Amino acid sequence: MKIVIIGATTGIGRSLAELYASKGIEMAITGRRIALLEEIKQTYPQTKIHVRSMDVINYEESRNIMDELSLELGGFDVVIINAGVGFPKATFIQEIETVHINVRGFLALAHWSYQYFQQKGGGQIVGISSLASLSGSAYSPEYHASKAFMANYMSGLRMRSTKYKHGIAITDIRPGFVDTPMTKQNKGMFWVSSPEKAAIQIKDAIDSKKKVAYITKRYVLIALILKMIPEWLLEKVF
Ligand SMILES: NC(=O)c1ccc[n+]([C@@H]2O[C@H](COP(=O)([O-])OP(=O)(O)OC[C@H]3O[C@@H](n4cnc5c(N)ncnc54)[C@H](OP(=O)(O)O)[C@@H]3O)[C@@H](O)[C@H]2O)c1
Repeated sequence: MKIVIIGATTGIGRSLAELYASKGIEMAITGRRIALLEEIKQTYPQTKIHVRSMDVINYEESRNIMDELSLELGGFDVVIINAGVGFPKATFIQEIETVHINVRGFLALAHWSYQYFQQKGGGQIVGISSLASLSGSAYSPEYHASKAFMANYMSGLRMRSTKYKHGIAITDIRPGFVDTPMTKQNKGMFWVSSPEKAAIQIKDAIDSKKKVAYITKRYVLIALILKMIPEWLLEKVF
């Protein structure tokens, strides 16, 4: 098996890269901070790791890089789209940046991956959305909306793959709270997971080709509640 991880420099993506690297799985890892990717490559010299700079805002370039990586690796089986941003009290510019990265950047890569696996005759696309995909938020409406886009887009791709028998598994990973650079300024977090524990559960969900997985598993309870409670009650929480 060969994999690609988009956004592997820090946090969840990095822990996933280290977990796969420790198991000797050949992979390509991308991100903007290339020195952090080189660190991972140097830590696991026994594993074939292809490092590539990629800013998902430049979506045409990202898709070209995927073309190049598919040749360099001689094909791959799983694409994990993890790159994402979330800003506390975002400015207008940060809200737009969130959409460019979490929505447009994600779409460009998920679309590329679907076409690639369709031609190849199968494969797996993994998107790291969020528990936030299930509701709006008074604090970060743009982030929750961007994650809802990801979740719905993946649901649509899954339906397409089943309907037309494309043989492409789509796994929507929905973390609750994970201790990463993105959440370091967050207050009021609960059931916080380490990125290493999150990576183990994410890999298990990928291996068993889950359609949707909550990370950590007990967040499924919060998901059930979020699906039931009305907006007036949500306003008091998010
Ligand atoms: N932590 C949580 O509690 C939590 C909960 C739910 C969902 N998530 C989701 O999990 C994913 C990973 O987040 P994290 O918590 O691990 O945060 P993180 O440590 O800040 O990691 C974000 C990753 O995305 C990459 N990235 C950001 N903007 C990019 C761009 N324009 N082009 C390419 N790569 C970019 C970063 O790499 P560079 O900056 O080096 O490019 C980094 O590797 C995100 O999609 C996030 O929304 C996190």
